[in-house]
Amino acid sequence: MANNQPCREDLPEHIGIIMDGNGRWAKKRALPRKYGHREGAKAFRKIVEYCDKIGLHYLTVYAFSTENWKRPKDEVDSIMQLLEQYIDEAFDHKNESDGVRTKFIGDMSALSPVLQEKIKRIEALGEGKSGLLVNVALNYGGRHELVHSMRALAEMVREQKIAPEEIDEAMVSDHLYTAGQPDPDLIIRPSGEERLSNFLIWQAAYSEFVFMDVLWPDFKPEHLEEAIRIFNQRHRRFGGI
Ligand code: FPP
Repeated sequence: MANNQPCREDLPEHIGIIMDGNGRWAKKRALPRKYGHREGAKAFRKIVEYCDKIGLHYLTVYAFSTENWKRPKDEVDSIMQLLEQYIDEAFDHKNESDGVRTKFIGDMSALSPVLQEKIKRIEALGEGKSGLLVNVALNYGGRHELVHSMRALAEMVREQKIAPEEIDEAMVSDHLYTAGQPDPDLIIRPSGEERLSNFLIWQAAYSEFVFMDVLWPDFKPEHLEEAIRIFNQRHRRFGGI
């Protein structure tokens, strides 16, 4: 499992992926969009398996944004179903993926009670483990996450636990869904689109971006390796020279 493996030297610590292109994948085959999501969920499983195998520490995937509720109900339902299936399978195979931990980031209160319950159970299964941590961003929006953090800090000010001038960057980070985790080093967006779409907007301040011309259902470990190779050619300066 990931935690027992020596970390490959060329590996970033944290990779984020915007799993884009499911709809276009289906359209190219004249299939309903939900088939694209089904194939996208398969690609996701393979990538999680691979990231665990190579010893990656953190993977964050964008599964459903706060804006995705605008899609037809049938499509939204199919994505939620795939997520439930993923959780059910993770339980069925819990011994095989021993070290992998799953965490859901986003506003879970809008999800069905059944899905919320499953999420709590799968997160509890990972407690005490130290392998690959997979953050599934669900009903997630970077701006919403920042509002959530700011409200928590405002509450602390109101309760006079902190003074406004004590608020610093670390405090904001500590109240994000990703509190305690390193920021993503590399963010990959397949499908040819080149934007962040409200994904990890605070955490991505110094991330390297790799945009790839492959639709998410076709994304394979080879594409991940290619993105890591490109990442390793970049010279990260973090504002220095
Ligand atoms: C973006 O492609 C993809 C989504 C909004 C959904 C992503 C969901 C999955 C990959 C399945 C989730 C399941 C698990 C188990 C994580 P798009 O639909 O916007 O594609 P398009 O831009 O080609 O229309």
